[in-house]
Amino acid sequence: MFEEGAALKQRYGEENVFDLSLGNPVMEPPVEFKRELKRLAEHPLPGMHRYMPNAGYPETRAAVAAQLSIETGIKFTMKDIIMTCGAAAALNVVLKTILNPGDEVIIFAPYFVEYRHYIDNHGGVARVLPTDEQFVPKLDALEAAIGAKTRTVIINSPNNPTGAVYTEDFVHQLGELLRKKETQYGTQIFLISDEAYRKIIYDGLKYPPVWHHHPQSIVVTSHSKDLALPGERIGYIAVHPDCSQQGELVDGLIFCNRTLGYVNAPALMQNIVRHLQPVTVSVAEYQRKRDFLYDHLVKLGYSVIKPRGAFYMFPKSPLKDDVAFVAELQQWKVLTVPGRGFGTPGYFRISYCVDDRTLEGSLVGFKKTALKFNLS
Ligand SMILES: Cc1ncc(COP(=O)(O)O)c(C=O)c1O
Repeated sequence: MFEEGAALKQRYGEENVFDLSLGNPVMEPPVEFKRELKRLAEHPLPGMHRYMPNAGYPETRAAVAAQLSIETGIKFTMKDIIMTCGAAAALNVVLKTILNPGDEVIIFAPYFVEYRHYIDNHGGVARVLPTDEQFVPKLDALEAAIGAKTRTVIINSPNNPTGAVYTEDFVHQLGELLRKKETQYGTQIFLISDEAYRKIIYDGLKYPPVWHHHPQSIVVTSHSKDLALPGERIGYIAVHPDCSQQGELVDGLIFCNRTLGYVNAPALMQNIVRHLQPVTVSVAEYQRKRDFLYDHLVKLGYSVIKPRGAFYMFPKSPLKDDVAFVAELQQWKVLTVPGRGFGTPGYFRISYCVDDRTLEGSLVGFKKTALKFNLS
């Protein structure tokens, strides 16, 4: 997508292509980030470019733990935190650590495209389950699907590609179901909560942490979106302090972080994000963009569930064939992604973490295609 978009921009001029295909935030990192970067350049710490403990700097892990404790009311310490090269590395490290060959990993469609590859990387078998019309995982399908080989369930809220945010009630029921199944099969079922967008949440909603609902929980996240630093590859894994065999699990995660070749998360970023744990980009700005696009699409006749977080929308494709519809939009230089890439044909994904000019410019293409397919 990245390359195709670049080629189109080169051919038609940047200003004539409306690229809504990537989750690459246009926003700059908050001013606090630049301040810390400058401070570190002017007052370097001795040895700050050397190797470090593979789990990360103790001070950074402690800062993450302190922030999580404030947010959740659960007492985290640095022993529960491993700094990683983004959420992508965090997911790979977790799967490498907990999976035996042939273990099943349950994911819900639509899902973040890379999950299947990550599961495959570590000898797991992906089992894809459906979500309901609001894109919330169906618990009856989950209940039927969990078996003796189920090692973990991955959830992602706020969700890429739908923007759905799961409720506290849903997370509670999910935790109860997992524990029931653990008892039934005599197994340990991890809940991996991918929280890459945890802080990007709208309409005054409060994020319901998984921690209160399942002790076998592992959170993976990054500062790619909340601090707009995707190129810097900085994130972390947090393990529930009450997880059984907690110490052994954390040792395994640290070992896999090293042996998968990540070694440790970038030193410079760890020294910066240590001071930025309570900081987030302007969520109001993303909400404004969501409102702008959602209102226009609905007026044009598109069928779309209002996203409550992240910066994606997942409207129904007016054509049964979502690839053909994305090609229609592309004729108007509007770039989106077919839903089948996320395991859900018949939809398409729009990423609205772009500048206003791109959003406004894309409306012409959305309007022309809406007229062509008689949407309103
Ligand atoms: C749901 C989800 N998980 C994980 C990632 C990976 O994040 P990172 O770039 O921090 O590794 C992304 C990136 O877009 C994502 O959307």
